[in-house]
Amino acid sequence: MTTPISERLDDLDEARDSGRRKMDWAIQHMPICGALREQFEADQPFDGERIGMAMHVEAKTAVLTEILAAGGAEVAITGCNPLSTHDDVSAALDAVDGVTSYAERGVDDEEYYAAIEAVIDHEPTITVDDGMDLVAAIHEDYPELIDTIIGGAEETTTGVHRLRAMDEDGELDYPVFAVNDTPMKRLFDNVHGTGESSLASIAMTTNLSWAGKTVVVSGYGDCGKGVAKKASGQNADVIVTEVEPRRALEAHMEGYEVKPMAEAAAEGDVFITTTGNRDVIVEEHFETMQDGVLLANAGHFDVEVDLDALSDLAVDTYAARDGVQTYEMADGRRLNVLAEGRLVNLATPIALGHPVEVMDQSFGVQAVCVRELVENGDDYEAGVHAVPDRLDKEVAEIKLDAEGVDFDSLTDTQAEYMDSWQHGT
Ligand code: NAI
Repeated sequence: MTTPISERLDDLDEARDSGRRKMDWAIQHMPICGALREQFEADQPFDGERIGMAMHVEAKTAVLTEILAAGGAEVAITGCNPLSTHDDVSAALDAVDGVTSYAERGVDDEEYYAAIEAVIDHEPTITVDDGMDLVAAIHEDYPELIDTIIGGAEETTTGVHRLRAMDEDGELDYPVFAVNDTPMKRLFDNVHGTGESSLASIAMTTNLSWAGKTVVVSGYGDCGKGVAKKASGQNADVIVTEVEPRRALEAHMEGYEVKPMAEAAAEGDVFITTTGNRDVIVEEHFETMQDGVLLANAGHFDVEVDLDALSDLAVDTYAARDGVQTYEMADGRRLNVLAEGRLVNLATPIALGHPVEVMDQSFGVQAVCVRELVENGDDYEAGVHAVPDRLDKEVAEIKLDAEGVDFDSLTDTQAEYMDSWQHGT
């Protein structure tokens, strides 16, 4: 069993100050979470609830955690990736009333899962996950807690895929909201957030330009669309690889080259995987790549680039820069892997994750989903649930209001027209 981060850091006061400054900066740019915080402080909707969280512990997540605690919850949190925690933020969070943070950067697998268990030890009544590790651990090892769990919320595509698979097998024993899939999350976070932050992280980690490069984007889902669009906007040529015919066609119609990885491998300067799948870039691809390529993954788990095969092929490997590991091939070619093949926008040493404004939306949705579980949890059976549209719209309206954007509403006649089937030519 692990201990809270505050018991493990040497310069605790300094870390807390630094983490607090990062959180204060984030909240200034998170009007949705700010408005919900006021509501939660006044209504105390989470009084008596214990919320267990496994998420990327950095400033924006800390803001979400803090507003749940401000609403009366006891919150225990840990990371959802061994490399994405900001220790100073984790320490600052651990100092917040009602919050215990176990998250620490650079933990090994054993420590990672020990921290998940430490969160579960708080006997959560609600879970908030990014990748489903918490839900999986509870179902596998602590099923006796399920009776008292009202429900959960899941942040990312891979987590939702895992939950749906679990649900189809009849193994998911409490309701979980698929926060990832709702428009206010998916159309902004996955597209713009992943696009902007992956490119920023790669550029900052390598100090290299995008202009004139050939960037191979694997997967043309929401994340891939964002990465391709932003890379193209930085004057790179984009090649897309896909396995789904409609997505491949969409990429083609958008003006990108579409080809199999077996061909793209020899042409790319930078490779960014966004598939949520495994073995997307493997040995046969490494063999044809050019000297100096960058290999980065923006999908949830570190299984998209086959690093074991790359290691086996390499005659030498060394850290070329912070966050860049070079694998030298027998013929002298150097293939450079960023962030050990983990989420490149969150796991390089200087990574900051998605822009603050984008996470305000995602975490606004998380927060209203947690509120919904407390208020109407009995209405939801065990299984994966779409975020109710009224909640998604509530978050959009708070954001538009904060941005000072007015928009139209339907007149009664228009509403009636849209709902009728009788009106024709
Ligand atoms: P998505 O399901 O919309 O898109 C994935 C695409 O990859 C699909 O079009 C699929 O056909 C394609 N694909 C699957 N296997 C492939 C293969 N072998 N080769 C080429 N294409 C393949 O999923 P989304 O929302 O784009 O998420 C992708 C991954 O990114 C997930 O693991 C998700 O959890 C993660 N994610 C990462 C974020 C970050 O901050 N880096 C933010 C949000 C999601």
